Amino acid sequence: TFSPRVFSGIQPSGDLHLGNYLGAIRRFVPLQDTHETIYCVVDMHAITVWQEPEALRRATREVAAAFIAAGVDPKRSIVFNQSQVVQHAELAWVFNCIARIGWMNRMTQFKDKAGKNSENVSLGLLAYPSLMAADILLYKATQVPVGDDQKQHLELTRDIAAKFNNDYAAAIAARDLGNAEGQFFPMTDPLIAGPATRIMSLRDGTKKMSKSDPSDQSRISLLDDADAIAKKIKKATTDPAELPVELEGLKARPEADNLVGIYAALSDKTKAEVLAEFGGQGWGKFKPALAELAVTVLAPMSGGMRRLLDDPETIDAVLREGAGRASAIAEKTMADVRDIVGF
Ligand code: ADP
Ligand code: NA
Repeated sequence: TFSPRVFSGIQPSGDLHLGNYLGAIRRFVPLQDTHETIYCVVDMHAITVWQEPEALRRATREVAAAFIAAGVDPKRSIVFNQSQVVQHAELAWVFNCIARIGWMNRMTQFKDKAGKNSENVSLGLLAYPSLMAADILLYKATQVPVGDDQKQHLELTRDIAAKFNNDYAAAIAARDLGNAEGQFFPMTDPLIAGPATRIMSLRDGTKKMSKSDPSDQSRISLLDDADAIAKKIKKATTDPAELPVELEGLKARPEADNLVGIYAALSDKTKAEVLAEFGGQGWGKFKPALAELAVTVLAPMSGGMRRLLDDPETIDAVLREGAGRASAIAEKTMADVRDIVGF
């Protein structure tokens, strides 16, 4: 058996947005009470697409600041950036030799990001899930709080763990490095729950809200001020019909469903409860209420992030200290992996 340990990561690849907050960051906080928790700024993932070096450095501090402003306590959780613990790259290479190219080619995120241009994207973009498996399994994490878009990558992480456990079963057994079932790596579960597992773009209800969307009107950034939040919500694409009274009425209305879902997540209510309050009303009533709620929830976040970002040395010190603690665990796993593989 593996002791309950949580790992999750966020890419420093642009504006942190409401989807990152509701789908991931906000959920990191309560897990500190029940699990050992490790939260990572995955800068090596970010460079699978081009990042300006100074922008990458700034975004790395921004993600760390968001963790802390949301309530992640660097004393109780390990907070660090991926590139500072070299074992991530080392284990990812071993996993590149475990995973099959066909597994990678089937990943929908790769297909979305590569588009029609799949011969001319970085090799790293294709291998991304292998590095993600290394992030998680280096710490033998048992649970990963993520948004719905990461479900397929978590399945691949389990496939890689299972193939490693199986290919090296004899070496694992000979060194007595497995659990009762002979597993060296655990079968990690995603933690995907609640109304906010997939927040959609404000401009297009069929696309997820994302850092990489070229339009900043498509997302609410965690650093947006009250004015910007209100403007973006006011301009959010909707059909002209009023809000339905029943949940059924949100079917086939992706934009309406998304805004109701955001309201539900921000107020810790169900979508049915939100419709009980707003059903039958028009967008002219609902959008200002949603904007006010979003500002109330996000203002302490952006305020906290700004204060932290004014003091980059403190953030860097947190990340350095976290990298030290992460390295101790990572090196223990990696020493065993080297021995198992025959290095
Ligand atoms: P992005 O896709 O915006 O670049 P990341 O890949 O860094 O963000 O994902 C960081 C975390 O945020 C992951 O757990 C991911 O599942 C979650 N996440 C990203 N976008 C959304 C969204 N639109 N709704 C809910 N969760 C999301
Ligand atoms: Na993502």
